Amino acid sequence: MNHMQDNGQRASRPTGIAILGSTGSIGVQTLDVIATHPERFRVVALAARRSAELLAAQAARFRPELVCLCEGEMEGAVSGAEGTVAAATHPEVDLVVVATTGAAGWEPTLAAIAAGKQIALANKEALVMAGSVIAVEARRAGAVLRPIDSEHSAIWQCIQGEGVAESHLSGPRGVRRLILTASGGPFRDASREELERVTPEQALAHPTWKMGPKVTVDSATLMNKGLELIEAHWLFDVPYEKLDVVVQPQSIVHSMVEFEDGSVKAQLGVPDMRVPIQYALAYPDHLPYSDLPDMDWSRAFALEFRPPDHERFPCLRLAMEAAMLGGTYTAALSSADEEVVAAFLSGEIGFMDIPRLVDWALERHAPVQEPTLEDIREVDRATRAAVRERIGASARYAAVRHTER
Ligand SMILES: NC(=O)c1ccc[n+]([C@@H]2O[C@H](COP(=O)([O-])OP(=O)(O)OC[C@H]3O[C@@H](n4cnc5c(N)ncnc54)[C@H](OP(=O)(O)O)[C@@H]3O)[C@@H](O)[C@H]2O)c1
Repeated sequence: MNHMQDNGQRASRPTGIAILGSTGSIGVQTLDVIATHPERFRVVALAARRSAELLAAQAARFRPELVCLCEGEMEGAVSGAEGTVAAATHPEVDLVVVATTGAAGWEPTLAAIAAGKQIALANKEALVMAGSVIAVEARRAGAVLRPIDSEHSAIWQCIQGEGVAESHLSGPRGVRRLILTASGGPFRDASREELERVTPEQALAHPTWKMGPKVTVDSATLMNKGLELIEAHWLFDVPYEKLDVVVQPQSIVHSMVEFEDGSVKAQLGVPDMRVPIQYALAYPDHLPYSDLPDMDWSRAFALEFRPPDHERFPCLRLAMEAAMLGGTYTAALSSADEEVVAAFLSGEIGFMDIPRLVDWALERHAPVQEPTLEDIREVDRATRAAVRERIGASARYAAVRHTER
């Protein structure tokens, strides 16, 4: 059982933790948090895709019961995708940190829920692709999905004590709007022409957050904010009409909740993912963390807010349209985005081809309204194949130019 149970009672042993994606940005920071509080947390299982050297170093330091390397061989490690499910369902695991990128997150999340584990969710694609199934399963199992994304952690913290049941999946009461903040990414002031010329190196240089490549590019296109709107819908059981986005360039206000009487609660802090990671692990406690920088309230500074520009950043609009259409549209959105971001990073397409190709994939998508897991797997497979074919069919840029609207 968890060291701190969700009913607030202390248990005697540290919370057993599995980290799926331990070699990534979130995974490494989660291990930092765990190393800071060895009396509270213990690593039981680690899983990664192919970073064998780093995974071996983590295993040597934290001595987990189970290590999984999905692609490749490593002494003492389980191989293959089923290893992530084994890590997520290990009997000594109390809480599973889902920190893999993309579509790799949703199947182990479901396995962890079915095995009665608590979930700390960084992987937003899990809810974007399979939110309807995961939310139902989590409710049925009584699993609280603890958000790691800083925006959702902010909202989670703001709705504490607002008449929300322990499982926030039942939806907060008295809420008029959830307002997700966005940094706006490195190109928030760029012209349309400048956006056409953005290189992978420029897109990977995020002004405030240090993250893995896929989420960094998603932040630059604002697709990330679209995926987060869908994540918030499933996490907090709030309709899309009550979800909004505002650009907050300093990344100090992590998100806000506006109540029916016009009162607005916000959560603020330095942009450091170890804060929401630690809160998700230690919930409902705010543990000390001496390594983290504090807000410097002794100097003057300004906080700026502005609306997002849907013309220059069509990915946010595309995500909202997919969300409103429902069914498997959001799975198609996520799978298409994962493929086109990979193609952008490998130099096959340009930055503004990302929204063009996602738009193309959504237009040709044949939706299933109440999808099963098998439907979602098939949408993932078919969407990726179609997008890959589209990219591969023509030389760089030429494949998509004529579909430009
Ligand atoms: N980074 C952030 O600040 C941040 C903030 C909010 C939300 N998130 C979300 O958190 C998730 C992870 O982001 P990240 O920035 O940490 O990504 P990242 O740095 O790219 O790390 C991804 C991790 O997942 C592993 N992985 C990828 N595919 C896998 C598979 N099929 N099976 C098992 N492991 C797999 C990778 O292993 P290898 O190293 O072996 O490839 C790596 O450990 C994303 O969904 C992102 O949107 C991230």
